[in-house]
Amino acid sequence: MPQADVIIVGGGLASLVTAYHLFEHKNVIIFTKAKKEESNSWLAQGGIAAALSGQDHWHFHYQDTIIAGADHNDERAVEILVQEGPKRLLELVETGLQFDTDQNGHFHFGNEGAHSQRRILHAGGDQTGKAMTSFLMEKLYGHVTIVEDERVIDLLVADGRCIGVRTKTGAYYADAVVLSTGGCGRLYSFSSNAETVTGDGIALAYRAGAAVTDMEFIQFHPTMLYVNGRAVGLISEAVRGEGAVLVTEDGKKLMESIHPQQDLAPRDVVARAIHAETAKGGRVYLDISMIKNFAERFPTIAKLCETHGVGLQDGRLPVVPGAHFLMGGIQVDLSGQTSLAGLYAVGEVACTGVHGANRLASNSLLEGLVFGARLAEVLKQRGSAEKGRRFPFVKPNSVKSFTGSLPDKGQIQEIMMRYVGIVRDERSLATARKWLEQFSIPELVKTDVTSWTEEEITVAYMLITGWLITTSALKRTESRGGHYRSDYPTEAMHWKKRRILRTKEEFFA
Ligand code: SIN
Repeated sequence: MPQADVIIVGGGLASLVTAYHLFEHKNVIIFTKAKKEESNSWLAQGGIAAALSGQDHWHFHYQDTIIAGADHNDERAVEILVQEGPKRLLELVETGLQFDTDQNGHFHFGNEGAHSQRRILHAGGDQTGKAMTSFLMEKLYGHVTIVEDERVIDLLVADGRCIGVRTKTGAYYADAVVLSTGGCGRLYSFSSNAETVTGDGIALAYRAGAAVTDMEFIQFHPTMLYVNGRAVGLISEAVRGEGAVLVTEDGKKLMESIHPQQDLAPRDVVARAIHAETAKGGRVYLDISMIKNFAERFPTIAKLCETHGVGLQDGRLPVVPGAHFLMGGIQVDLSGQTSLAGLYAVGEVACTGVHGANRLASNSLLEGLVFGARLAEVLKQRGSAEKGRRFPFVKPNSVKSFTGSLPDKGQIQEIMMRYVGIVRDERSLATARKWLEQFSIPELVKTDVTSWTEEEITVAYMLITGWLITTSALKRTESRGGHYRSDYPTEAMHWKKRRILRTKEEFFA
């Protein structure tokens, strides 16, 4: 019977960091549902934030994170992030990871929205995620098995504990299962995320009985390149950090009268300003004319523009917001333990509360680095499976045959974008809920998907995750960070620090 000490599901930065700190102590297998390069971490452009410059201090980084997070953050999680982050980064630098430097060989610090200091380390200009993930993959080579194109379709639970995973090729058992599957950006028709990021991890955990929380908080990145009515790729916030300015069709500075930090205001503020302009029929552009050597500093973005026929020489890039990051996720403690024994989560799929209601730019790679290392510490202490240990027979989820029908992926993405997007209200959310619920969500939560096609499983898990976002957004009758309701447009004291917790027990209540 195949078994490992630790099975990790997903191949982004948090997964690789966890495996990196563990492989000398434990037998680790990573399953990725596509190729290992197809993760959001690989695509990450801007960089990784850390208080490493002479003028900076972790305390400033702490404050910026809390302000951007609309004070919904778990303060201890933020302290851990900003205090342990610099140390974890320097550890990797000592083992050979390189970041871009200035002419004196010192780190070059970029700037991004809502940071009070220049503290964003970057590599290859705008290829930070690729540099970090490929560096770690090299370190894991020969030590950790990475099984590509092997999708985990269910978690195995017996006697109230997660004991392994089921993939299309069978059951795999482990002492600990770690979900590190990323967020759910591709639930939306406009998104910066890799195609694979459709909220699987949330649905897997919820179906297995683990609690999820803060699902209403979705971050929309303000600047996706907008071509022929589609959002075709990310234009890093680091571009605004270098001086680019959002302008309307007639050249007016969009952010001038909206926020004191103007183009570098928190992302939720900037995304809403662009949304308001486009909702009136206007268009928004990023004026990059002041950035010298744009293609050198931002090679990935220059390539993206070239691919889509957008000339850099015009100095104006058409932009639109797109779903970027899930602040909520599977509820975990500060070491990655979920509410289900044997199941852990790390990275975007997990919710420690560190990002509050709106993540500060370039804190996500840092989250993977810090919380991946912490999780590995906990897993190291656990005893290993006895050789030849017998595993209980695991009953698949109880409903055998699903009686409903399923929509197309694209229909879900349109509904989420239109009704559960940057601006929501009771009416739009109720419309989305009604649409989603026609697909028998309680049955989808319980049904055995073993014989389903990959596409059917993707759609079913998108429906579950989309439904969790929508119904949590209906419950939260205020606006905070990435959750903006036009019928409750301000923060409400009675919602401050209150989390909406969801478990599948709600179907039996
Ligand atoms: C960006 O480069 O703008 C995205 C970085 C992030 O999401 O932190």
